[in-house]
Amino acid sequence: MAMNVSELTPQPTTAVTSRWRRIVTPIPAPASIPVIERLRAAEPQSMAGLPPILWDQAEGFLVRDRFGNQWIDLTSGIVLANAGHSHPRILEAIRSATDQRLLATYAFPSEPRLRLLEKLITLSPIPNSKAILYSSGTEATECALLLMRRHGQQIHPRKVGIVSLAGHYHGRTLAAHLASGMPQPTDWIERAQAQHFQIPAPQSLTGPPGNSHDGPCGAECFRSGITALAERGVGPEHIAGLILEPVPGTTTMPLPHDFATAAADWAKQHNVMLAFDEIQCGCGRTGKFFGSEHLGVTPDLIVLGKGLASSLPVSAVIGRSTLLDLPLPGEMSSTHGGNPVCAAAALANLQVLEDERLIDAGARTGAVVMERLGGLQRDYPQSIRAVQGVGLFISVHLRKPTADEPDVELADAIAQAAVRRGVLMFTTGRGYLKFTPPLSIDVEAAMEAVDVIRECLIERISAI
Ligand SMILES: Cc1ncc(COP(=O)(O)O)c(C=O)c1O
Repeated sequence: MAMNVSELTPQPTTAVTSRWRRIVTPIPAPASIPVIERLRAAEPQSMAGLPPILWDQAEGFLVRDRFGNQWIDLTSGIVLANAGHSHPRILEAIRSATDQRLLATYAFPSEPRLRLLEKLITLSPIPNSKAILYSSGTEATECALLLMRRHGQQIHPRKVGIVSLAGHYHGRTLAAHLASGMPQPTDWIERAQAQHFQIPAPQSLTGPPGNSHDGPCGAECFRSGITALAERGVGPEHIAGLILEPVPGTTTMPLPHDFATAAADWAKQHNVMLAFDEIQCGCGRTGKFFGSEHLGVTPDLIVLGKGLASSLPVSAVIGRSTLLDLPLPGEMSSTHGGNPVCAAAALANLQVLEDERLIDAGARTGAVVMERLGGLQRDYPQSIRAVQGVGLFISVHLRKPTADEPDVELADAIAQAAVRRGVLMFTTGRGYLKFTPPLSIDVEAAMEAVDVIRECLIERISAI
């Protein structure tokens, strides 16, 4: 769903000075507007959907502009700064990597790349894993899709189809886009012509939470999706791979266990590769290192990104070595994949997550946040349809009082009002609020953020 270009008219604010929040200007800060206008003149409007805050510094769970304002960050950038922004150990790793005077190596052997790869292989639940590094999440998704197709083609030249779930998101390059299931401007590219197929997700992703199916939503839902494909002439003999988000970014809820098990069993039975896109839900976001740990299912490939470095662009595909070794030398690489500075940042990030026990900390904070947001839902059931999530991967789904459908306007108005009160949030354009701060957030700061959301909700509904 498209977001509106964010307004650049300064809105009055009431001064805020808490331990973590500081708002001392109207929002957007008047002095930031000429800069944001120049940005808008220089880049496409697709970049203009978020609250117009001119980031100057981001540290831990705080974001600052240079006009004296400071926010508690519930976005982690775009769910990427799992270890917190500018973590001192990540900064130090980046500094010592640059002091080494090795800024790029392409696929030539390098030790920073080796160290990160070996760490990822240690973390991998997939037996006999290898891994490959990229920069963006979407590149890593493309790699996973390509590997699954290479594998299928070995079995039969026509076993190249990719199945994905409606509403799941996998990136913006072409194959990743086709695997993504939101209605999108590329719908003119007929998925089936590109051998991409979708089945319904077991949970409603864009509407109010609940099943996207009538009837049972677990194993039965998966099977009925696959049966419907077969009725269109797309049987397993045409399918090379299945890709899904084990904990989708839109629901922030793990897929039902029996859906995941049915998918894995079916994939195994038909020699279809299973890829889990953990770009958003991985690296500790859900209270476990891999989101798929909530499902109890091991895939053939795992794709990571975002929280893998909590900072610089690093993504990875981890998977069975027999799969990763299908492309021949020189056939699968990327200029910046495994860049030594990025690899050092990612390795330091993984070490920080471990040493500071941030995944457990995130799970504990998440539980308290859920409790407090649950109280808000109990107080305002007419406006809040559901509060759901795992770890610090939480969404608050708003509904219209007159019809049981997502209240996009209310959700985005709350997010914007929260920004004016010193809590940085996304406007999702989909009728929900996303609560995804760095895992290192102080529990009291997280509670303060929930209280701000409460104030904004009350203010908004009493203004109607
Ligand atoms: C689940 C998932 N997959 C893939 C991507 C694409 O990653 P990137 O934006 O780094 O290309 C994203 C980004 O939001 C994502 O959330």
